[in-house]
Amino acid sequence: MAKEPGSEDLGFETRAVHGGEEGKDPWRALTPPIYMTSTYTFPSMETVDRVTGGKEEGFVYSRAGNPTVREFERTIAGLEGGEEGVAFSSGMGAISAVLLSWAKKGTPFLFSRHLYSGTRHFIESMLIPLGATVRFVSFPEGSPASGDLEEALREGAAGLFLETPSNPILEIVDLSATAALCRRYGVPLAVDNTFPSPALQNPLLLGADLVIHSATKYLGGHGDLLGGVAVGDRQTIQSLRSVEAPLLGATLSPMNAWLILRGIKTLALRMEAHSQRASLLARLLAGHRSVVRVHYPGLPEHPGHGIGLRQMKGTGGMLAIQFASFEAARRFMDRLRIIRIGVSLGDPASLVEHPASMSHRGWSREVRQSMGIEEGLVRMSVGLESPDDLVRDVEGALAGL
Ligand SMILES: Cc1ncc(COP(=O)(O)O)c(C=O)c1O
Repeated sequence: MAKEPGSEDLGFETRAVHGGEEGKDPWRALTPPIYMTSTYTFPSMETVDRVTGGKEEGFVYSRAGNPTVREFERTIAGLEGGEEGVAFSSGMGAISAVLLSWAKKGTPFLFSRHLYSGTRHFIESMLIPLGATVRFVSFPEGSPASGDLEEALREGAAGLFLETPSNPILEIVDLSATAALCRRYGVPLAVDNTFPSPALQNPLLLGADLVIHSATKYLGGHGDLLGGVAVGDRQTIQSLRSVEAPLLGATLSPMNAWLILRGIKTLALRMEAHSQRASLLARLLAGHRSVVRVHYPGLPEHPGHGIGLRQMKGTGGMLAIQFASFEAARRFMDRLRIIRIGVSLGDPASLVEHPASMSHRGWSREVRQSMGIEEGLVRMSVGLESPDDLVRDVEGALAGL
């Protein structure tokens, strides 16, 4: 059962700053030590027995656990309202570990249609060749009720994996309704919460079983590292911690755990600033004659606007812009001066990417369309530059399109 993040009577920002601290540092340092060690030594075999037998807290080898990494895991578990977390060297490390853990159950895997390209790649290049049956389900207008989810759940499944808002077209899925349906059929629900971050959305508190993050994005928050994490109930996380995480070897380095902990301290402030700037640009872009459509949950015309307002504390820093053509999209990107061309997201620097040329280049136009990706789509990660400069940059790029 998910733990209410407010149960310790501390606000989100306080837990982001102090969350995983254990107060064990002998020098009472303000920031946590970075334990750059591959292994741990023992004063005696009796201590070995106590630590390996779980009678004394300790670490044996850093692929299976490290004190700095553990502090990040405790912090993120607290922010998501989960019992425990387990860190990985990237978001894909977390996603592949969770999906491979489901493979042991052997029944079909359910996915929403709108997924990060790497997750889709994993499904097609790893899960299906390994013999897994996969089914994509739809959430018309964000709701699980009118789509094909219930029929799929009735037939049994190892789990349902989805993103909301999704990458890259910001589809919103009603988490409470979907979690209730999954629970009715005993199917675990995993949510990739990378886009909103725990500052804006807590899927476990809405009934999901597992939350996954690419910590590379908003958690780290500075575009200088790769990391990932899964959060959930103690039993599920301990199983991931003792089997998939150490055996796949996608281990987070202590240095990166420390950088993510530093990033998390300012997460709430950054998400507010990202949301404010993205709202401004979404409204500006939506009113322009060269723009066919802007996908942003903060716009009232977005099909998931109502659900988004209910389940998120802000509308986030990501938006997608539909231009009339492939050429118009690329011209817009070439004309930007402050906003840079690049994949990834969640950094202080604003970034744009063109899925048809970049993240989704490897797929046919038909497959891209089935994911809602048209040739003229541009994804924008709105950073933390001055709002006026961002507005001027976008206006300049739109002029003459
Ligand atoms: C929604 C989402 N999930 C997972 C990932 C994968 O994360 P990483 O690049 O840290 O492996 C990404 C990367 O862009 C993403 O956008």
